Amino acid sequence: MTTHIVTGTQWGDEGKGKIVDLLTEKVDVVCRFQGGNNAGHTIVVGGVKYDLHAIPSGVLRENTVSYIGNGVVLDPVQLLSEMKILEDKGVKITSDSLIVSPKAAVIMEYHKILDKCREEAKKGNKIGTTGRGIGPAYEDKISRIGIRVGDLLDKDSLKTKIKAALKEKNTLFADLYNVPKMNWEELTEKYYALGQEISGYIAPTDFSFADYVKDKKVLMEGAQGALLDIDHGTYPFVTSSNTVGTYYGAGSGIPVGCIEDNIGLVKAYTTRVGAGPFPTEDFGDDGEKLAEAGHEFGTTTGRKRRCGWLDLVALKYVFDLNGYTSIALTKLDVLNEFKTIKVCTGYTYNGQNIEFPADSSVVDKAEPQYEEIEGWNCDISGITLFEELPEKAKEYVHYIENALKTKISIVSIGPGREETIVRPEYISL
Ligand code: GDP
Ligand code: IMO
Ligand code: MG
Repeated sequence: MTTHIVTGTQWGDEGKGKIVDLLTEKVDVVCRFQGGNNAGHTIVVGGVKYDLHAIPSGVLRENTVSYIGNGVVLDPVQLLSEMKILEDKGVKITSDSLIVSPKAAVIMEYHKILDKCREEAKKGNKIGTTGRGIGPAYEDKISRIGIRVGDLLDKDSLKTKIKAALKEKNTLFADLYNVPKMNWEELTEKYYALGQEISGYIAPTDFSFADYVKDKKVLMEGAQGALLDIDHGTYPFVTSSNTVGTYYGAGSGIPVGCIEDNIGLVKAYTTRVGAGPFPTEDFGDDGEKLAEAGHEFGTTTGRKRRCGWLDLVALKYVFDLNGYTSIALTKLDVLNEFKTIKVCTGYTYNGQNIEFPADSSVVDKAEPQYEEIEGWNCDISGITLFEELPEKAKEYVHYIENALKTKISIVSIGPGREETIVRPEYISL
């Protein structure tokens, strides 16, 4: 087995879908190991756009198996609708090409309602979640009252578990949030039927992913980004899973090791959806220009993404956590029309220079210190070799490599599969 990991280094939407799709040509299995359909991974092939949320970004490759690991929270309603949308676009999904771990946690209807109720109740202090029930589903998993994918196939046990979970939920719905209570019998029927619909994709209970991939090349597809990690991100403005690549073993059920590539995805600037600190956010014309040139609207919720400059302070912190073997630098083309590009190289707080702080209220107040770099200010589309990039674009690449002490193996210059420059000397795949 060889393992290749692709994860986001910022606040998500770095272009994971595009890079995973590109690399899956060379792997046997693509595995999602955390998160859920809060993710929105866009792939563009032959001018056709595919938005993936729960299904791994290997699904467009006929010879690649997509695996939804135990660390994921899965909404079966959404999974079926995503499969239908893909099938309508001609993507073939079979029980040989999509496998779901029976241990993955199910996002139930009440999780989605609770997610929305909690956000509404927060008024001025919202996290800005995707409203997909991610947090409440992980809470139930950790509280050991969750429903797992395998439970959907056993009606009696499903009934008992839903009934137990609803005891607390209905109290919250009626007494705290003032929304209708849910009926355990109806929910049992609904989720048992959903289980039947997806049963062909659920691996048997004795399935061992470790055994399945022992002679294979497996690519771990991260969702979200390291700064949204539940432990290491800008808490509480984070998602509810460990998004760092090092979680891949626990979230998929394979021993860690045999890592040939651990690729950190760095967008050439920074974006964030939802609330939370973002020191390099640009509220002026540059921010608007980045949003427009980068089409920065969320794949999952359609929300406008907040935009700003590359933040090397945050990235250095994230790189220390992850030990990347190389970087995939994405959306370099979005900077084409900037005469100067700003890069944050330091933070000050109360007049002192600081590293990336653990406390997100300090991140919020940190003053970014910038260096200005001359832009290349021309179109870079159609370039396939690194040497052919304009000198100033190469300088930007080298600047990032030097700051993060990691080589850039892939430079993405457009959403399409072919709009990519690969430097094979820095990647094993
Ligand atoms: P993910 O969540 O990390 O997979 O990223 P998203 O798919 O949510 O957002 C990235 C967006 O940028 C998508 O619309 C991609 O099609 C697009 N994209 C990816 N790479 C590039 C690139 O190099 N240049 C441009 N202009 N767009 C890109
Ligand atoms: P991909 O995989 C960007 C953000 C939400 C919110 C916070 C918590 O496409 O990069 P949640 O619904 O997870 O409880 O919301 O996390 N968020 C993302 N932001 N890209 C994502 O995924 C995200 N998934 C969650 O906007 O701020
Ligand atoms: Mg996304």
